[in-house]
Amino acid sequence: MRTVIAGNWKMNKDLPQAMDLLARLAAAAPVGDVEVVVAPAFPFLGQAVERLRGTRVAVAAQHCHEAAGGAFTGEVSAPMLASLGVRFCIVGHSERRQYCGETDALVNARIRALLAAGITPICCCGERRAEREAGRQQEVVGAQLREALAGLSAAELMRIIVAYEPVWAIGTGLNATAEQAQDMHAFIRSVLRGLAPEAADQVPLLYGGSCKPDNAAELFACADVDGGLIGGASLEAASFLELVAIAHRCKQPR
Ligand code: 13P
Repeated sequence: MRTVIAGNWKMNKDLPQAMDLLARLAAAAPVGDVEVVVAPAFPFLGQAVERLRGTRVAVAAQHCHEAAGGAFTGEVSAPMLASLGVRFCIVGHSERRQYCGETDALVNARIRALLAAGITPICCCGERRAEREAGRQQEVVGAQLREALAGLSAAELMRIIVAYEPVWAIGTGLNATAEQAQDMHAFIRSVLRGLAPEAADQVPLLYGGSCKPDNAAELFACADVDGGLIGGASLEAASFLELVAIAHRCKQPR
């Protein structure tokens, strides 16, 4: 199984700050075979690809539109991202669901657009606090995934990454416990198995939500946690690189 550590910078860093962080990541020695991905804001993606060329760090976008092009002012398409050398794209993040009306149907359309453009979708799912308190977390995440991934072939499913990000853990300092993460990741694996048995064991399942160097080891040690989608701790080179090193230690040899 691949191990992936992806940094979602969200709407943080101006150009000099982004270039400084990219330079620090580019200068760092590669750690094992952990796949390292960073997702700066749209304006900096082209420069990020150039700055990281020849390193083992790949570039992700945080969003894309489902259409290949056309009259969609302010939007960015998957073919545009591919033409820059962007290799991954986050889809269905809870912040885009909450603030930008991203529905499961849109997530599905965007995943299809990304796959058609040769970009790896990082498909986010996760329940809200009230849903977990009501014991509905599997129902919610199962429904999100079945709609987001509807109609994809096994070959397409093998090309995606899933990130489980419980909404109550994002930016709160309150991470899921290792047990909560492993339970949900095993459930997600079972949902994937129901969609395409041959793909289920190929899809990296990332945990996201207040994942930091001081809690990452127990999360990454879980059998079905294949890495992390990191927000706050990806904004500093030291903490992000520490997370890469922890993932390497937890997942070798596999
Ligand atoms: P934090 O790591 O800041 O909780 O953010 C997680 C996240 O939303 C990554 O996409």
